[in-house]
Amino acid sequence: MKINILSATDRPGSNAMKVSQYAGKKLKERAEVEIISLRDYPFQDIIGGRYADNIDSVDEFNDRFLDADGILFVIPEYNGGFPGVLKLFYDYLPFPKALKGVPVSLIGEAAGAFGALRPVEQFSQLLTYRNAIIFPEQMVIQRVNESFDMEMGMKNEKQQKFLDDQLEKFPEFVKKHSPELVDL
Ligand SMILES: Cc1cc2nc3c(=O)[nH]c(=O)nc-3n(C[C@H](O)[C@H](O)[C@H](O)COP(=O)(O)O)c2cc1C
Repeated sequence: MKINILSATDRPGSNAMKVSQYAGKKLKERAEVEIISLRDYPFQDIIGGRYADNIDSVDEFNDRFLDADGILFVIPEYNGGFPGVLKLFYDYLPFPKALKGVPVSLIGEAAGAFGALRPVEQFSQLLTYRNAIIFPEQMVIQRVNESFDMEMGMKNEKQQKFLDDQLEKFPEFVKKHSPELVDL
């Protein structure tokens, strides 16, 4: 089983990447894992609204992203929503094929008290539109700079259990929706 993690921002030194690395470490106990960052997305090649073009760099990025049995999105909150670069990336995925029937999971992180609940819920709508299958347990990390440690996870015990539960159960969910996968 392969699970890809998307760190959904291009911001240098992002918390999304730190959370992705923590999640990757946990998921590796149950699946092959690849972390993909929007920092590496070829944004320079899509300037000018090239939606109808075949762009090699975009195809390569999309193929790498979609080569998975399940996908975990790690999403920060920017201005009460998810980062604009995530929507750009999303709009260049192959339509209607990409994500159809794919099990997906979401984790939010934000500096503020709402822990990216807004962007996680907003992005869930977009995933539903593309017929992805959403894992219902969704961790939102409030006050990420104080509450989260890249090595240890959440400093609060209850929150840590919530985060780890999501990461432990998501591979089972992926397997349930991909009956052709062999046992873990
Ligand atoms: C452009 C921008 C907008 C932000 N807007 C919000 C916001 O609306 N609510 C919030 O709680 N934090 C906001 N923040 C803080 C981020 O949520 C916080 O720094 C988060 O960890 C950033 O994620 P990143 O490190 O993965 O980029 C914003 C940060 C940036 C860069």
